[in-house]
Amino acid sequence: MENTYTILFVVSESVPFAKTGGLADVAGALPKTLAKRGHNVMVVMPYYASIPRELLASDEAPFSMNVWMGDKEEWCLVHTKKITKNLSYYFIDFQNYFFREGLYHNAAMQDYLDNPKRFAFLSQAAMYLCKTLQKKIDIVHAHDWQTAPALAYLKTWHADCPYLGNAAGVLTIHNIGYQGKYSRESYSYLGFRNEDFRQEIFEDYGGINLLKGGIYFADMVNTVSPTYANETLTPGHSHGLDHFLKQKGDQYIGILNGVDYSEWDPASDKLIPRKYSAKNIAGKKICKEQLQHYFGLYEQDCIPLIGMVSRMASQKGHYLLADSIEAIVNNMQVQFAILGSGDKELEDYFASLNEKYPGLIGVRIGYDNALAHQIEAGSDFFIMPSLYEPCGLNQIYSLRYGTLPIVRATGGLDDTVEQYDESTGEGTGFKFYDATSRAIYDTVGWAVSTWYDRQEHYRQMQAAAMKRSFSWDESAARYEAAYERALEIRRS
Ligand code: ADP
Ligand code: GLC
Repeated sequence: MENTYTILFVVSESVPFAKTGGLADVAGALPKTLAKRGHNVMVVMPYYASIPRELLASDEAPFSMNVWMGDKEEWCLVHTKKITKNLSYYFIDFQNYFFREGLYHNAAMQDYLDNPKRFAFLSQAAMYLCKTLQKKIDIVHAHDWQTAPALAYLKTWHADCPYLGNAAGVLTIHNIGYQGKYSRESYSYLGFRNEDFRQEIFEDYGGINLLKGGIYFADMVNTVSPTYANETLTPGHSHGLDHFLKQKGDQYIGILNGVDYSEWDPASDKLIPRKYSAKNIAGKKICKEQLQHYFGLYEQDCIPLIGMVSRMASQKGHYLLADSIEAIVNNMQVQFAILGSGDKELEDYFASLNEKYPGLIGVRIGYDNALAHQIEAGSDFFIMPSLYEPCGLNQIYSLRYGTLPIVRATGGLDDTVEQYDESTGEGTGFKFYDATSRAIYDTVGWAVSTWYDRQEHYRQMQAAAMKRSFSWDESAARYEAAYERALEIRRS
C-alpha cells in the first residue's frame, strides 16, 4: 500500500470490549488489519458499564473533554487503550448515556428512548477528540445509523477545522433494516444544521432518519457484501432507501466482510473441547459428542446435528424455521443445537422445543460466546434461513469449522456459500431461494439425505469448505481503495 492514512473509526461496539452482533466482530478485526497494513487507526466507542474493566487497564490517566452538541456544552471523560503502535481505542465515558444494562435496549428489549442523543453524542465526541488531541485525520469511517451523524458533523461544523477539514467520510451500512428513525423533537439537541432537515438529508416522513443523513454526507458508502449492495438498490430490500443509494452512483459499493481466523479457526480455537483441522479432523467428533452431551441430545455420531447461533430477530428467519422444525424432527433423523436471544415470542417458542423434543432439539436462550464456538465446532451443518443478510459471519465461520452451511441465498450468504452439485460433489453448502418454511424443510431434507446416502460427497464438501479463506487482508485492501476514492471525491 503506497498511501497510509490516519483513520478515525467511530463505532458503537467492538470485540473484545462490547458485542451484540457481527458489527463488533468487524470493528474488532478491520482496524487491527488496517493497522497491520501501516495505517494509523483510532477507534472511538462508548465506555459501556458492561465492558470488563480488566480489558481497559491502561497506563494513561483518563482526560476530560468538552463536546458541543449544537449550542449545548457537555463534558465527558476519555479513556485510552493503546493496542499497538498505530492502533488505539478511545472510550467515551459519559455515564448518563452509557452506564446502562444494555448497549441499545434494556433487559425487556425496549430500546432506550434517548438512543439518538446517546449515539449522536458519541459521534460528535469522536470529532472533538481529534481536535483535543490535535490529530489530523484523513478518513472518518462511520458504521450504521449510530455513528452516521459523525459524517454530518464532519462536513458541517468541522469543515474548516485544521484537523478534520480535509478528511473524507466513509459510511459502512451493516444492516439497512436499522436506520435510526426518530421523531423530530430530538433534532435540535442533535446539533445538526436546521437547513439539513430536508428530504434529501435527515427528514423522513416528518421525522429524522440518521442513516439517510449519513448517506448524504458520506464521500463513499459501502455495505458488507456485493449481493446485498445490489439488493439494497431495489425497493424490496432497501427499507425505503433505494432511491438515496442509487443517487450515490459508483460511490456506493459492496465489500465482503472477512473473518478473524485468530478467533475462529478450529486448529487454534481455545474455546472448543478438542482442536482439529482439515488434515486431522478427528477432534471434530469429540466436539460433537460434547455438544450433544451439553444439550442433552442422543449421543450418536451417526445422526447429523444442525447448529444455529443468532440474534432471535425476524431478519434471521426464525419464524420460518419455527414453522418447519417440528415437521423436520418428526420426519427426519436429525438433531438441532440452537443458541440465541432476542424477540421474546421466539425465545419462548424455541425454549419450549427443548421440553417437547428431548434428545432431538437442544435450545439455550442467551448470549454465550464460548457456546457459539462449540456449536460451530460440534455441528455437522449450520442453518441460517435469513430473510435478508447483509453479510452474515457465522456461515463463513462454519466453512472453516467444516460445518456445512444450509442458507437462504440472500446477501452475503449467497456470496460466501457455493451450492452443492449432486453430480460432482462440488460445493460448500446447501442453498435455497424461497423464503418459505417448505423451502427450509426441503433443503434440510436434501442436506440430511446427503449425510446419510452420499457421505463421500459430504466429506468432499467439508474438505472444500475448510480450505476457503475469507481473510481480512483482502477486504482491508478493498477498504483502502474505497478510502482513496473517498479522498479523491473530497478533493474534487
Ligand atoms: P448479525 O450481526 O446480524 O447478528 P452476523 O452473522 O454478522 O449477524 O454476526 C453475528 C455474530 O454474533 C457472530 O459472531 C455470532 O457468533 C454472534 N452471536 C449471535 N448471537 C449470539 C449468541 N446468542 N451467543 C453468542 N454469540 C452470538
Ligand atoms: C449486521 C448484519 C450481518 C453482518 C454484520 C457485520 O449486523 O446483519 O449480516 O454480517 O452486520 O457486518
